[in-house]
Amino acid sequence: MRAVVAARPGGLDALQLVEVPDPVPGPGEVLVRVRATAVNRADILQRLGHYPPPPGASDVLGLEAAGRIEALGPGVDGWTVGDRVMALLAGGGYAELVAVPQGQLMPVPEDMDWVIAASIPEAYVTAWQALNQDPVPGSGSWVLVHAGASGVGLAALDIARALGARTIGTTRSPGKAGELADLADRALVPGPEGFRDAVLTITGGHGADVVMDLVGGAYWADTVAATAVDGRIALIGLLGGPRAELDLAALMGRRLTVRASTLRARPPEQKAALVASFAAWASTRLADGTLRPRVHDLLPLSRVADAHRMVQDNRTVGKIVLVVTDDGLVDR
Ligand SMILES: NC(=O)c1ccc[n+]([C@@H]2O[C@H](COP(=O)([O-])OP(=O)(O)OC[C@H]3O[C@@H](n4cnc5c(N)ncnc54)[C@H](OP(=O)(O)O)[C@@H]3O)[C@@H](O)[C@H]2O)c1
Repeated sequence: MRAVVAARPGGLDALQLVEVPDPVPGPGEVLVRVRATAVNRADILQRLGHYPPPPGASDVLGLEAAGRIEALGPGVDGWTVGDRVMALLAGGGYAELVAVPQGQLMPVPEDMDWVIAASIPEAYVTAWQALNQDPVPGSGSWVLVHAGASGVGLAALDIARALGARTIGTTRSPGKAGELADLADRALVPGPEGFRDAVLTITGGHGADVVMDLVGGAYWADTVAATAVDGRIALIGLLGGPRAELDLAALMGRRLTVRASTLRARPPEQKAALVASFAAWASTRLADGTLRPRVHDLLPLSRVADAHRMVQDNRTVGKIVLVVTDDGLVDR
């Protein structure tokens, strides 16, 4: 089969579309013929050599995919050859075939196309694992999402809105603010003065009940100061760096909870539990349009380098999808 690997750590020219052996589904795994996959920031880091795949994972890039089940490994139940699925992967998505633990599959709603389906698993399950923790944002609460125009950021805004929360998204790019304002209740472009005062003004002095922090270091002091009493910071990205000064008095004074998490490194059982929890909540909402995943652009797999360039240059609002088999797009 054809697949994209990073032959060595490096720039865009490290990406190679090559012939590799077809994966063979092991016990409890399903073989999926991939119609579309999507680019994540983690793929850029992996290509650069900063984010190796977890032990045992494919060295083919790609953390999510959508397609039809081609074959079942031993001991698989509940799935049938031909089923339309979207998959959360530890790797292997930029390929014509991928083997997936059955617990990491979700059914694709009948009217959803492959492009949208491929954009969902990594961003939405990441956002779900961070939002679906105590306190879960609900009606009337405020959710602040840093890097709100990112794939994960938009998924978090979408889920938070569907939970009934009011949302604020940050972006450093004034050119994205208009689009972000259509997807969040408020869009903020932090200036040199930061975003704390703006968040407090928007929330009537209350602060954000939950912060989806994809930025970390550079934003940390303002993030703590913009979080409401008894609020929670879900730390899931370090786009702004891994180090910050921690004001313990500010954490205590506001009785804040900080929960950090990663998805890719979790064992398959934990991923399966998260996927099942997300699917139980989201399946109807994805089918009826309550949830509205947003794709920035789609490109053929052969243009993977262009896709990586758009993501690494921060030009995207939402996901870039790679179409693996063009004919598949008309085959729902
Ligand atoms: N913990 C987990 O399980 C998990 C899982 C998936 C992803 N993540 C993390 O979530 C983050 C987003 O991933 P993604 O694939 O959704 O990203 P993405 O779609 O590539 O979007 C990233 C956006 O972040 C903004 N950004 C870039 N550098 C920044 C900086 N230094 N400070 C502030 N904002 C910056 C840019 O938007 P603007 O132009 O709007 O500023 C950029 O377009 C990444 O850090 C990723 O590693 C974590």
